[in-house]
Amino acid sequence: MSNGLLKGKKGIIFGALDPNSIAWKVAMRAHEEGAQFTLTNAPVAMRLGAINELAQATGSQVIPADATVNEDLEKLFISSMEILGGKVDFVLHSIGMSPNVRKSIAYTDTNYDFYHKTLDISAMSLHRVLRTSMKLDAINEWGSVVALTYIAAQRVFPDYNDMADAKALLESITRSFGYHYGKAKKVRVNTISQSPTRTTAGSGVKGFDGFFTFADRMSPLGNASAESCADYCISMFSDLTRMVTMQNLFHDGGYSYTGVSQDIMDGIKE
Ligand SMILES: NC(=O)c1ccc[n+]([C@@H]2O[C@H](COP(=O)([O-])OP(=O)(O)OC[C@H]3O[C@@H](n4cnc5c(N)ncnc54)[C@H](O)[C@@H]3O)[C@@H](O)[C@H]2O)c1
Repeated sequence: MSNGLLKGKKGIIFGALDPNSIAWKVAMRAHEEGAQFTLTNAPVAMRLGAINELAQATGSQVIPADATVNEDLEKLFISSMEILGGKVDFVLHSIGMSPNVRKSIAYTDTNYDFYHKTLDISAMSLHRVLRTSMKLDAINEWGSVVALTYIAAQRVFPDYNDMADAKALLESITRSFGYHYGKAKKVRVNTISQSPTRTTAGSGVKGFDGFFTFADRMSPLGNASAESCADYCISMFSDLTRMVTMQNLFHDGGYSYTGVSQDIMDGIKE
């Protein structure tokens, strides 16, 4: 269903790897709502080729960029403005990767080179994106940048590993840069803290199925799906949320404010 919420808006969407990716769903919804955008992902992700299907379905061009490389990001913003015919109105940062998680290295045993990579890819990349767009003045006034995060930034989930630290940094960058970007250019920066979702990044976390089911039973509304996350992103890109910035917005069916649910209590045998 389209409400034309993004009619005339231009954007850049990071992180659509395959049809399960949250960024994939956001791209489909943004297209439905009338936006034009470019798609980007790390050059290694291009090999899988799925992103070209999404590009075809949404009439978009794909521009490879490693989000940890400033020159790639500069080229990305410059090419996007050329392709789209002007500055952009929204950016989705949907990027996460931890080599420590990938290699099942325990948090207490962390490999510090990997730890650096986790923070660079999953958090500092947002700073790089914002710095690049600000330097190039590539985002229109009242434009909206959204990054995806997880509640492990606030609460301990033992197997979320160093991604928890990356998410805490991501949310801090959102506030700090959001202040400066708001003051300088009236650009908004927010994170959406999403329920566990079955994607490549999500399922890579040890014990993901347990995580998923626990959160589903805790949340009064159940887990939020990737599709509903896409809807929320669209509302954040639209003009209906113009005064929202520097926030971490929970999109989790009520999980974040629930102490314990009856479902969980019923499952505990005394
Ligand atoms: N799946 C979940 O349970 C869940 C929950 C809350 C938040 N999130 C967050 O949502 C975001 C999207 O993840 P997803 O679940 O859709 O999984 P996904 O695996 O589909 O997306 C992660 C993306 O990051 C990209 N990426 C990795 N390294 C990169 C680099 N150097 N440069 C550019 N891109 C790079 C990958 O290619 C991939 O497209 C992530 O930030 C993730 O932490 C996911």
